[in-house]
Amino acid sequence: MNKNSPGAGLTQSNRDQTTRIRADLASLREDIRGERMLDWFAADPARAESLTFKVAGLTVDFSKQRVNASVLSKLQALAASTGVEQAIQAMFAGAVLNNTENRAVLHVALRGSVDDDLCVDGENVSDVVTTELERMLAAVGKIRSGDWSSVTDRKITDVVNLGIGGSDLGPRMLTQALTPFHDGQLRVHFVANVDAHELLDTLQSLDAETTLIIVASKSFGTEETLANAKIAKNWLLDTGHSEIVNQQMMAVSSNVQRVVDFGIAADRIFQFRDWVGGRYSVWSVVGMPIALAVGEDNFRKLLRGANLMDRHFREEPLHTNVPVIMALISIWNHNFLGYGSQAVVPYYHFLQRLPQYLQQAEMESNGKGVSRDGEKLLEPCSPVVWGTAGTDAQHAYFQMLHQGPEAVPVDFVLSRRCLHTEPDSHVRLLTHAIAQSEALLCGRSESDSRSGSAAHKYCPGNRPSTTVLLEQADPENLGALLALYEHKIFVQGQIHGINSFDQFGVELGKQLASEIRPMMTGSAPLQGRDASTLGLMRLCRIQPGES
Ligand code: F6P
Repeated sequence: MNKNSPGAGLTQSNRDQTTRIRADLASLREDIRGERMLDWFAADPARAESLTFKVAGLTVDFSKQRVNASVLSKLQALAASTGVEQAIQAMFAGAVLNNTENRAVLHVALRGSVDDDLCVDGENVSDVVTTELERMLAAVGKIRSGDWSSVTDRKITDVVNLGIGGSDLGPRMLTQALTPFHDGQLRVHFVANVDAHELLDTLQSLDAETTLIIVASKSFGTEETLANAKIAKNWLLDTGHSEIVNQQMMAVSSNVQRVVDFGIAADRIFQFRDWVGGRYSVWSVVGMPIALAVGEDNFRKLLRGANLMDRHFREEPLHTNVPVIMALISIWNHNFLGYGSQAVVPYYHFLQRLPQYLQQAEMESNGKGVSRDGEKLLEPCSPVVWGTAGTDAQHAYFQMLHQGPEAVPVDFVLSRRCLHTEPDSHVRLLTHAIAQSEALLCGRSESDSRSGSAAHKYCPGNRPSTTVLLEQADPENLGALLALYEHKIFVQGQIHGINSFDQFGVELGKQLASEIRPMMTGSAPLQGRDASTLGLMRLCRIQPGES
């Protein structure tokens, strides 16, 4: 397949149809403007059941969203007219969906979800994936058991992953999310920020002679990661062992030459191909820190959970396809009902980094200004994604969610079972989550609180939320959860007609930083920029003689 394959673009007749469907959706929005979800529940006793789906260990309840049967069927028509079904098949078939970088989009191959005979760039995709996965898991096994020892022949006790964006957020979030599955073989740490406070704070409590450094960077050209890698390399070398870098530094990258040039030996490099986007790379060797923390079996279960969701996504028709429904509801909320942001609130302590992970997944993927063909877009394609863990979140910004004039759709992410020994606490946690979704739906009755001081108590309600219930926050369910969001984001991008797999917007800041750095270090004169930028540099740069 090439970039003209089905799913990559739309014909004129598709476009005309899409325009008509969008107009119909706009008029449906007017129809439901004064309607309340509570009345829909009353009129249709089966609403909760018919809008709740079970897939891959997850139960997803969409019934508290402002959609009725007419809206949903029109949204499904929108998906059909924008080629969603063809795009899904095209992705699994290795089509060049990332047209601006001329790449296939095959993170699904990392969890065994493509056909065995699929080839890209003359290579069998499954073979490449399996070879590198087995190499990585073999190394993980040796490091965990102590067979891969330190330069002084001691067991590795700590691992520090240096990476940023997709080379950090996924492994960091999942390593934390899987805390109950850590078996104590190794402590795993993450450092992303170029602000050396993070790295130095991490290293200060570690013993360089028993610490393994993983430099994770798809491009191996990211300034933050390379700056930290240099500091960490020197920290290792300060032990006086000249062989320590060879033994205790490894890399995860798709650019082998750059890693070798940095000084890490070829047999210490774990690779993935450029058809894995950075923010979709946690399933690849980028997930090595997760495997180091939880072991091979659990890492394979993570992949299996994602594989289950992939199969559902690939095979299920639009009207029962959970990632598709989730995407359609997001588009309805954002582009038709006008809700500009999306809160994600995990009611599971160890999943507290999920919102950050999803920020990159959604906003870097769909925060675009032009279509696949470079045409200016007429509507925004990514809501602002934000959130923190519940119940803490309830005592921070839920006030605004309940009474602020602007509604914010919320995804509540819950785990039915807990992995600790305090069942009462878990009942409290889940009770709060459910109560919050009920409060958003019902509000506080107008008659009770319309006048006088009661006006201050009025909560409008009728505010949308989805509840995603994991049977248990285990590797398999978490794999399915992340794959659900990945596919949702892909479908939204397809409906908007954008390329969800490039990120050129991030480049501008990087380019300007490299231009002005010589001015900050004093090796170039302060000139040629706007007055504010020059003024800030004047204020910030360290003067000669200043320490
Ligand atoms: O933030 C921009 C970005 O390019 C992300 O897409 C990517 O995940 C991150 O930088 C890190 O890139 P790399 O893995 O190449 O160091």
